[in-house]
Amino acid sequence: MLSLILPTYKERESLPILIPKIVESLGAAEYEIIVVDDDSPDKTWEVARGLAQRHPQLHVIRRVGRRGLSSAVIEGFLAAKGDVFVVMDADGQHDIGLILKLADAARENGGMSMGSRYMEGGSVGDWTGFRAWASRIGTALAHWVCQVRVTDPMSGFFAVSRGTFEEVLPRLNPKGFKILLDLLVHVPANTQVKELPFSFQERIGGVSKFSTQVRLQYLEFLYDATVGRYLPLTLIKYCVVGVMGVAVNLAAYAIVSLLLNESPQFGLFSTPLLAGIEAAIVFNFFFNNAWTFSYAKLRGWKAVTGFAKYNVVCAFGAFANIAVTAFLYRGGMGTVSSLAIGAFIGMMWNYTIGRLFTWNV
Ligand code: GDD
Ligand code: MN
Repeated sequence: MLSLILPTYKERESLPILIPKIVESLGAAEYEIIVVDDDSPDKTWEVARGLAQRHPQLHVIRRVGRRGLSSAVIEGFLAAKGDVFVVMDADGQHDIGLILKLADAARENGGMSMGSRYMEGGSVGDWTGFRAWASRIGTALAHWVCQVRVTDPMSGFFAVSRGTFEEVLPRLNPKGFKILLDLLVHVPANTQVKELPFSFQERIGGVSKFSTQVRLQYLEFLYDATVGRYLPLTLIKYCVVGVMGVAVNLAAYAIVSLLLNESPQFGLFSTPLLAGIEAAIVFNFFFNNAWTFSYAKLRGWKAVTGFAKYNVVCAFGAFANIAVTAFLYRGGMGTVSSLAIGAFIGMMWNYTIGRLFTWNV
Protein backbone atom coordinates (compact mmCIF):
# COMPACT_ATOMS: atom_id res chain seq x y z
CA MET A 1 0.00 0.00 0.00
CA LEU A 2 1.09 3.54 -0.80
CA SER A 3 0.70 6.25 1.86
CA LEU A 4 0.61 9.78 0.48
CA ILE A 5 1.42 12.41 3.11
CA LEU A 6 0.15 15.95 2.54
CA PRO A 7 1.43 18.43 5.14
CA THR A 8 -0.80 21.49 5.26
CA TYR A 9 -0.73 24.93 6.78
CA LYS A 10 -3.36 27.36 5.55
CA GLU A 11 -4.26 25.44 2.39
CA ARG A 12 -8.05 25.54 2.55
CA GLU A 13 -8.32 26.88 -0.99
CA SER A 14 -6.10 24.21 -2.51
CA LEU A 15 -7.30 20.96 -0.92
CA PRO A 16 -10.79 20.79 -2.49
CA ILE A 17 -9.17 21.11 -5.92
CA LEU A 18 -6.17 18.89 -5.25
CA ILE A 19 -7.77 15.87 -3.54
CA PRO A 20 -10.19 14.92 -6.38
CA LYS A 21 -7.31 15.22 -8.87
CA ILE A 22 -5.16 12.88 -6.78
CA VAL A 23 -8.01 10.39 -6.38
CA GLU A 24 -8.55 10.40 -10.11
CA SER A 25 -4.88 10.00 -10.90
CA LEU A 26 -4.30 7.12 -8.45
CA GLY A 27 -7.32 5.24 -9.80
CA ALA A 28 -7.44 1.64 -8.66
CA ALA A 29 -4.04 1.65 -6.91
CA GLU A 30 -4.02 0.62 -3.25
CA TYR A 31 -3.41 3.81 -1.30
CA GLU A 32 -4.30 6.12 1.58
CA ILE A 33 -3.90 9.90 1.86
CA ILE A 34 -2.92 11.46 5.18
CA VAL A 35 -3.34 15.21 5.61
CA VAL A 36 -1.28 16.50 8.54
CA ASP A 37 -2.52 19.95 9.45
CA ASP A 38 -0.98 22.13 12.17
CA ASP A 39 -4.29 23.50 13.41
CA SER A 40 -4.32 26.09 10.60
CA PRO A 41 -6.11 29.32 11.55
CA ASP A 42 -8.05 29.11 8.26
CA LYS A 43 -9.41 25.72 9.43
CA THR A 44 -7.83 23.63 6.69
CA TRP A 45 -8.44 20.58 8.92
CA GLU A 46 -12.17 21.22 8.75
CA VAL A 47 -12.12 21.35 4.96
CA ALA A 48 -10.00 18.18 4.94
CA ARG A 49 -12.44 16.36 7.21
CA GLY A 50 -15.29 17.36 4.90
CA LEU A 51 -13.39 15.86 1.97
CA ALA A 52 -12.71 12.72 3.99
CA GLN A 53 -16.46 12.12 4.21
CA ARG A 54 -16.50 11.69 0.46
CA HIS A 55 -13.14 9.96 0.13
CA PRO A 56 -12.70 7.15 2.67
CA GLN A 57 -9.00 6.75 1.73
CA LEU A 58 -8.38 10.22 3.19
CA HIS A 59 -7.34 10.61 6.85
CA VAL A 60 -6.78 13.83 8.72
CA ILE A 61 -4.40 14.51 11.59
CA ARG A 62 -4.96 17.86 13.28
CA ARG A 63 -1.93 18.73 15.39
CA VAL A 64 -2.57 21.29 18.09
CA GLY A 65 0.20 23.37 19.67
CA ARG A 66 2.90 22.19 17.26
CA ARG A 67 4.29 23.73 14.10
CA GLY A 68 6.79 22.65 11.51
CA LEU A 69 6.86 20.95 8.14
CA SER A 70 9.45 18.28 9.02
CA SER A 71 7.77 17.17 12.22
CA ALA A 72 4.37 17.13 10.48
CA VAL A 73 5.72 14.82 7.78
CA ILE A 74 7.39 12.54 10.33
CA GLU A 75 4.12 12.32 12.22
CA GLY A 76 2.33 11.41 8.99
CA PHE A 77 4.87 8.62 8.35
CA LEU A 78 4.36 7.30 11.86
CA ALA A 79 0.61 7.07 11.34
CA ALA A 80 0.89 5.55 7.84
CA LYS A 81 0.04 1.95 6.98
CA GLY A 82 1.85 1.71 3.64
CA ASP A 83 5.09 0.01 2.71
CA VAL A 84 6.12 3.16 0.84
CA PHE A 85 5.48 6.83 1.71
CA VAL A 86 5.19 9.74 -0.72
CA VAL A 87 5.35 13.39 0.39
CA MET A 88 3.97 16.22 -1.70
CA ASP A 89 3.09 19.92 -1.27
CA ALA A 90 -0.66 20.28 -0.72
CA ASP A 91 -0.85 23.36 -2.96
CA GLY A 92 -0.66 21.81 -6.44
CA GLN A 93 3.00 22.75 -7.04
CA HIS A 94 4.14 19.17 -7.47
CA ASP A 95 3.29 16.83 -10.31
CA ILE A 96 0.41 14.50 -9.40
CA GLY A 97 1.24 12.28 -12.37
CA LEU A 98 4.52 11.35 -10.68
CA ILE A 99 3.08 9.96 -7.42
CA LEU A 100 2.77 6.36 -8.56
CA LYS A 101 6.08 6.44 -10.42
CA LEU A 102 7.90 7.70 -7.32
CA ALA A 103 6.24 5.04 -5.16
CA ASP A 104 7.15 2.26 -7.61
CA ALA A 105 10.74 3.46 -7.84
CA ALA A 106 11.21 3.51 -4.04
CA ARG A 107 9.58 0.11 -3.75
CA GLU A 108 11.82 -1.31 -6.43
CA ASN A 109 15.11 -0.03 -5.04
CA GLY A 110 14.08 -0.35 -1.38
CA GLY A 111 15.40 3.15 -0.71
CA MET A 112 14.14 6.46 -2.00
CA SER A 113 13.03 8.34 -5.08
CA MET A 114 12.42 12.01 -5.67
CA GLY A 115 11.16 14.62 -8.06
CA SER A 116 13.90 16.89 -9.37
CA ARG A 117 13.57 20.36 -10.85
CA TYR A 118 17.25 20.55 -11.72
CA MET A 119 17.71 17.60 -14.03
CA GLU A 120 17.07 17.29 -17.74
CA GLY A 121 13.31 17.65 -18.30
CA GLY A 122 12.60 19.44 -15.01
CA SER A 123 12.22 23.14 -14.22
CA VAL A 124 11.51 25.56 -11.39
CA GLY A 125 8.85 27.36 -13.40
CA ASP A 126 8.85 31.14 -13.36
CA TRP A 127 10.48 31.92 -10.08
CA THR A 128 11.52 35.49 -9.38
CA GLY A 129 15.26 36.18 -9.39
CA PHE A 130 15.71 36.08 -5.64
CA ARG A 131 13.91 32.82 -5.05
CA ALA A 132 15.73 31.07 -7.89
CA TRP A 133 19.05 32.37 -6.63
CA ALA A 134 18.32 31.42 -2.99
CA SER A 135 17.33 27.93 -4.08
CA ARG A 136 20.58 27.48 -6.05
CA ILE A 137 22.68 28.56 -3.07
CA GLY A 138 20.68 26.34 -0.71
CA THR A 139 21.17 23.42 -3.09
CA ALA A 140 24.92 24.01 -3.34
CA LEU A 141 25.26 24.12 0.46
CA ALA A 142 23.16 20.99 0.80
CA HIS A 143 25.55 18.97 -1.37
CA TRP A 144 28.27 18.82 1.21
CA VAL A 145 26.06 17.37 3.93
CA CYS A 146 24.29 14.67 1.92
CA GLN A 147 25.34 11.01 1.98
CA VAL A 148 23.94 10.50 -1.51
CA ARG A 149 24.48 13.00 -4.29
CA VAL A 150 21.27 14.14 -5.98
CA THR A 151 20.46 17.04 -8.30
CA ASP A 152 17.72 18.64 -6.17
CA PRO A 153 18.01 17.95 -2.42
CA MET A 154 15.57 20.81 -1.74
CA SER A 155 12.69 19.50 -3.80
CA GLY A 156 9.95 18.77 -1.28
CA PHE A 157 8.58 15.96 -3.47
CA PHE A 158 9.80 12.42 -2.74
CA ALA A 159 9.10 8.82 -1.77
CA VAL A 160 10.80 6.68 0.84
CA SER A 161 10.38 3.00 1.69
CA ARG A 162 9.17 2.17 5.18
CA GLY A 163 12.38 0.23 5.87
CA THR A 164 14.65 3.18 5.04
CA PHE A 165 12.53 5.60 7.04
CA GLU A 166 12.51 3.38 10.11
CA GLU A 167 16.25 2.91 9.89
CA VAL A 168 16.99 6.66 10.04
CA LEU A 169 14.08 7.72 12.26
CA PRO A 170 16.07 8.01 15.51
CA ARG A 171 18.52 10.40 13.83
CA LEU A 172 16.02 12.73 12.17
CA ASN A 173 15.92 16.40 13.14
CA PRO A 174 12.26 17.43 13.50
CA LYS A 175 13.19 21.13 13.46
CA GLY A 176 12.46 23.08 10.29
CA PHE A 177 11.38 22.55 6.69
CA LYS A 178 13.90 20.14 5.26
CA ILE A 179 12.69 16.61 5.79
CA LEU A 180 13.99 15.32 2.44
CA LEU A 181 17.43 16.81 3.02
CA ASP A 182 17.47 15.36 6.51
CA LEU A 183 16.79 11.89 5.12
CA LEU A 184 19.58 12.33 2.56
CA VAL A 185 21.95 13.37 5.36
CA HIS A 186 21.22 10.31 7.49
CA VAL A 187 20.63 7.38 5.12
CA PRO A 188 23.50 4.91 4.60
CA ALA A 189 25.74 6.08 1.75
CA ASN A 190 24.80 3.08 -0.42
CA THR A 191 21.06 3.90 -0.38
CA GLN A 192 19.52 3.96 -3.85
CA VAL A 193 17.83 7.26 -4.75
CA LYS A 194 16.09 7.45 -8.10
CA GLU A 195 15.40 10.93 -9.52
CA LEU A 196 12.56 11.78 -11.89
CA PRO A 197 12.19 15.21 -13.50
CA PHE A 198 9.21 17.49 -12.88
CA SER A 199 8.27 21.15 -13.40
CA PHE A 200 7.42 23.22 -10.36
CA GLN A 201 3.93 24.70 -10.84
CA GLU A 202 2.16 27.78 -9.53
CA ARG A 203 0.26 27.39 -6.25
CA ILE A 204 -3.49 26.80 -6.58
CA GLY A 205 -4.18 29.42 -3.89
CA GLY A 206 -2.81 30.76 -0.61
CA VAL A 207 0.81 31.79 -0.05
CA SER A 208 4.18 30.11 0.48
CA LYS A 209 5.34 29.39 4.04
CA PHE A 210 8.96 29.55 2.96
CA SER A 211 9.67 32.56 5.18
CA THR A 212 12.82 34.25 6.43
CA GLN A 213 12.47 32.29 9.64
CA VAL A 214 12.43 29.07 7.62
CA ARG A 215 15.61 30.18 5.81
CA LEU A 216 17.34 30.87 9.13
CA GLN A 217 16.24 27.46 10.34
CA TYR A 218 17.85 26.05 7.22
CA LEU A 219 21.21 27.59 8.16
CA GLU A 220 20.81 26.12 11.64
CA PHE A 221 20.03 22.80 10.03
CA LEU A 222 23.27 22.90 8.01
CA TYR A 223 25.20 23.81 11.13
CA ASP A 224 23.59 20.95 13.10
CA ALA A 225 24.39 18.50 10.31
CA THR A 226 28.11 19.45 10.24
CA VAL A 227 29.95 21.20 13.10
CA GLY A 228 26.90 20.80 15.34
CA ARG A 229 27.63 17.10 15.71
CA TYR A 230 30.63 18.08 17.81
CA LEU A 231 29.71 21.55 19.07
CA PRO A 232 25.95 22.00 19.52
CA LEU A 233 24.46 25.31 18.45
CA THR A 234 22.66 25.59 21.78
CA LEU A 235 26.03 25.55 23.56
CA ILE A 236 27.28 28.43 21.39
CA LYS A 237 24.12 30.42 22.03
CA TYR A 238 24.37 29.64 25.73
CA CYS A 239 27.94 31.01 25.78
CA VAL A 240 26.88 34.18 23.94
CA VAL A 241 24.14 34.75 26.52
CA GLY A 242 26.62 33.90 29.31
CA VAL A 243 29.09 36.55 28.12
CA MET A 244 26.34 39.18 28.01
CA GLY A 245 25.26 37.95 31.45
CA VAL A 246 28.71 38.80 32.83
CA ALA A 247 28.23 42.39 31.62
CA VAL A 248 24.79 42.49 33.28
CA ASN A 249 26.32 41.14 36.46
CA LEU A 250 29.00 43.85 36.54
CA ALA A 251 26.51 46.62 35.72
CA ALA A 252 24.08 45.52 38.44
CA TYR A 253 26.96 45.24 40.87
CA ALA A 254 28.08 48.81 40.11
CA ILE A 255 24.57 50.25 40.32
CA VAL A 256 23.71 48.59 43.63
CA SER A 257 27.09 49.58 45.11
CA LEU A 258 26.41 53.18 44.15
CA LEU A 259 22.87 53.12 45.52
CA LEU A 260 23.96 51.60 48.81
CA ASN A 261 26.99 53.81 48.82
CA GLU A 262 29.19 50.80 49.61
CA SER A 263 32.85 50.88 48.81
CA PRO A 264 33.91 47.98 46.60
CA GLN A 265 34.33 44.82 48.62
CA PHE A 266 34.42 41.18 47.74
CA GLY A 267 32.95 39.57 50.85
CA LEU A 268 31.00 36.50 49.84
CA PHE A 269 27.64 37.84 50.97
CA SER A 270 27.85 41.52 50.11
CA THR A 271 24.51 42.85 48.78
CA PRO A 272 25.91 44.27 45.50
CA LEU A 273 27.64 40.99 44.73
CA LEU A 274 24.47 38.97 45.24
CA ALA A 275 22.44 41.55 43.31
CA GLY A 276 24.87 41.26 40.39
CA ILE A 277 24.68 37.47 40.39
CA GLU A 278 20.88 37.39 40.59
CA ALA A 279 20.56 40.00 37.83
CA ALA A 280 22.74 37.80 35.61
CA ILE A 281 20.64 34.73 36.44
CA VAL A 282 17.42 36.58 35.55
CA PHE A 283 18.98 37.84 32.31
CA ASN A 284 20.39 34.43 31.37
CA PHE A 285 17.16 32.64 32.12
CA PHE A 286 15.14 35.06 30.03
CA PHE A 287 17.40 34.92 26.96
CA ASN A 288 18.11 31.21 27.12
CA ASN A 289 14.41 30.57 27.39
CA ALA A 290 13.52 32.87 24.50
CA TRP A 291 16.47 32.12 22.22
CA THR A 292 18.86 29.27 23.10
CA PHE A 293 16.08 26.82 23.95
CA SER A 294 13.31 28.55 22.00
CA TYR A 295 12.17 25.15 20.68
CA ALA A 296 11.43 24.09 24.27
CA LYS A 297 10.35 27.49 25.54
CA LEU A 298 8.78 27.51 29.01
CA ARG A 299 5.60 29.55 29.31
CA GLY A 300 3.27 30.64 32.11
CA TRP A 301 3.53 28.65 35.31
CA LYS A 302 6.22 26.38 33.83
CA ALA A 303 8.40 29.45 33.28
CA VAL A 304 8.04 30.34 36.98
CA THR A 305 9.01 26.87 38.24
CA GLY A 306 11.70 26.67 35.54
CA PHE A 307 13.18 29.92 36.78
CA ALA A 308 13.24 28.58 40.36
CA LYS A 309 14.99 25.40 39.16
CA TYR A 310 17.46 27.46 37.15
CA ASN A 311 18.43 29.33 40.32
CA VAL A 312 19.18 26.04 42.05
CA VAL A 313 21.24 24.86 39.06
CA CYS A 314 23.20 28.13 39.03
CA ALA A 315 23.83 27.97 42.78
CA PHE A 316 25.60 24.64 42.27
CA GLY A 317 27.32 26.10 39.21
CA ALA A 318 28.62 29.02 41.27
CA PHE A 319 29.84 26.58 43.91
CA ALA A 320 31.70 24.54 41.27
CA ASN A 321 33.13 27.76 39.84
CA ILE A 322 34.47 28.96 43.21
CA ALA A 323 35.74 25.52 44.25
CA VAL A 324 37.66 24.98 40.98
CA THR A 325 39.11 28.51 41.03
CA ALA A 326 40.27 28.15 44.64
CA PHE A 327 41.74 24.71 43.97
CA LEU A 328 43.74 25.88 40.94
CA TYR A 329 44.82 29.12 42.60
CA ARG A 330 46.10 27.28 45.69
CA GLY A 331 47.84 24.84 43.40
CA GLY A 332 49.93 27.75 42.09
CA MET A 333 48.07 28.76 38.91
CA GLY A 334 47.83 32.46 38.01
CA THR A 335 44.76 34.47 39.10
CA VAL A 336 43.33 35.06 35.64
CA SER A 337 43.70 31.46 34.46
CA SER A 338 42.21 30.12 37.70
CA LEU A 339 39.25 32.48 37.39
CA ALA A 340 38.73 31.72 33.70
CA ILE A 341 38.86 27.94 34.11
CA GLY A 342 36.57 28.14 37.16
CA ALA A 343 34.06 30.26 35.21
CA PHE A 344 34.23 27.85 32.26
CA ILE A 345 33.54 24.80 34.46
CA GLY A 346 30.66 26.67 36.15
CA MET A 347 29.16 27.55 32.79
CA MET A 348 29.47 24.02 31.40
CA TRP A 349 27.70 22.78 34.51
CA ASN A 350 24.92 25.35 34.13
CA TYR A 351 24.53 24.51 30.43
CA THR A 352 24.43 20.73 30.82
CA ILE A 353 22.35 20.51 33.97
CA GLY A 354 20.17 23.54 33.13
CA ARG A 355 19.32 22.00 29.76
CA LEU A 356 18.27 18.70 31.32
CA PHE A 357 16.74 19.96 34.53
CA THR A 358 15.18 23.31 33.55
CA TRP A 359 14.30 22.89 29.86
CA ASN A 360 14.08 19.08 29.75
CA VAL A 361 15.87 18.77 26.39
N1 GDD B 1 1.67 20.76 8.79
C1 GDD B 1 2.44 21.75 8.32
N2 GDD B 1 3.11 22.55 9.22
N3 GDD B 1 2.55 21.96 7.00
C2 GDD B 1 3.31 22.98 6.57
C3 GDD B 1 4.02 23.84 7.44
C4 GDD B 1 3.90 23.60 8.84
O1 GDD B 1 4.47 24.29 9.67
N4 GDD B 1 4.68 24.76 6.68
C5 GDD B 1 4.40 24.48 5.40
N5 GDD B 1 3.56 23.42 5.32
C6 GDD B 1 3.00 22.77 4.11
C7 GDD B 1 2.36 23.72 3.15
O2 GDD B 1 1.00 23.90 3.44
C8 GDD B 1 2.61 23.00 1.83
O3 GDD B 1 1.65 22.02 1.60
C9 GDD B 1 3.96 22.32 2.03
O4 GDD B 1 4.11 22.19 3.44
C10 GDD B 1 5.16 23.12 1.46
O5 GDD B 1 5.08 24.46 1.92
P1 GDD B 1 5.03 25.69 0.88
O6 GDD B 1 4.67 26.91 1.62
O7 GDD B 1 4.20 25.30 -0.29
O8 GDD B 1 6.56 25.78 0.46
P2 GDD B 1 7.13 26.25 -0.95
O9 GDD B 1 6.32 25.69 -2.05
O10 GDD B 1 7.36 27.71 -0.94
O11 GDD B 1 8.54 25.54 -0.92
C11 GDD B 1 8.78 24.49 -1.82
O12 GDD B 1 10.07 24.55 -2.26
C12 GDD B 1 11.04 24.23 -1.32
C13 GDD B 1 12.40 24.28 -1.91
O13 GDD B 1 12.62 25.38 -2.66
C14 GDD B 1 8.41 23.17 -1.17
O14 GDD B 1 8.32 22.17 -2.14
C15 GDD B 1 9.41 22.76 -0.17
O15 GDD B 1 9.12 21.44 0.28
C16 GDD B 1 10.77 22.83 -0.82
O16 GDD B 1 11.76 22.48 0.12
MN1 MN C 1 4.47 24.80 -2.22
